[in-house]
Amino acid sequence: MRHSFFYTQAAAILLIAPFLGACSDDRHDERLAAAGPNPSLSALMKVADADAGARKFGQCAACHTIRKGGADKNGPNLHGIFGKRMGQGSRAFSYTAALSNAGGTWDAQTLDAWLQNPQKVVPGTKMQFGGIADPLNRADVIAYLQKEAD
Ligand code: HEC
Repeated sequence: MRHSFFYTQAAAILLIAPFLGACSDDRHDERLAAAGPNPSLSALMKVADADAGARKFGQCAACHTIRKGGADKNGPNLHGIFGKRMGQGSRAFSYTAALSNAGGTWDAQTLDAWLQNPQKVVPGTKMQFGGIADPLNRADVIAYLQKEAD
C-alpha cells in the first residue's frame, strides 16, 4: 500500500512539474493561441487576464504597491496609473526629471513598451527593471494595472 501511494504521488508530481515550470496554470498558451497568429497588442489585451496579472505583479512588488493610498517604495504607488500622465501616479514620489518631463500618457501601448524596456521609453528613468519578454505576460500585468483603479 505504502509503495503504491508513493508511486501515485511521484507520478502526479511528474505530471504537474512541466506545468509549474511554464506557469501555465493561467492558461497562457491556450489564451495566446486564441489571440491568433502574430497577435497585435489589442488582440492580446482581449485575452489578457487581470488575475494572472495580479500574480505576475509579484515581480513589481519589491518596488511598487498598488492598493489605494499604498506607500511609495523604491518606485511610486501604482493605484489607478492606467490613463494617467507619465510621472504623475504619486504626488509624493521623487520622479526623475526624465519621467516627469516625458509628457506621455500610460495606456496599453506605452505600458507595453515600458514593461518590455523602461529605458527605451524614457531614457534616463531610474526604474531598474529587466523587462517582461513575453507579450501576453505584459498584457496580463497591464490588465491588472487597468483593473486596480477607482
Ligand atoms: C527595482 C525597482 C522596480 C521594479 C522591480 C519595478 N519598478 Fe516600476 N518604477 C520604479 C521606479 C524607481 C520608478 C520611477 C522611475 C523614474 O522616476 O524615472 C518606476 C515607475 C513606474 C511606472 C511609472 C509611474 C508613474 O507615475 O508614471 C510604472 C507604470 C511602473 N513603474 C510599473 C512597473 C511594473 C508594472 C513593474 C513590474 C512588472 C515595475 N514597475 C517594476 C521601480 C521599479
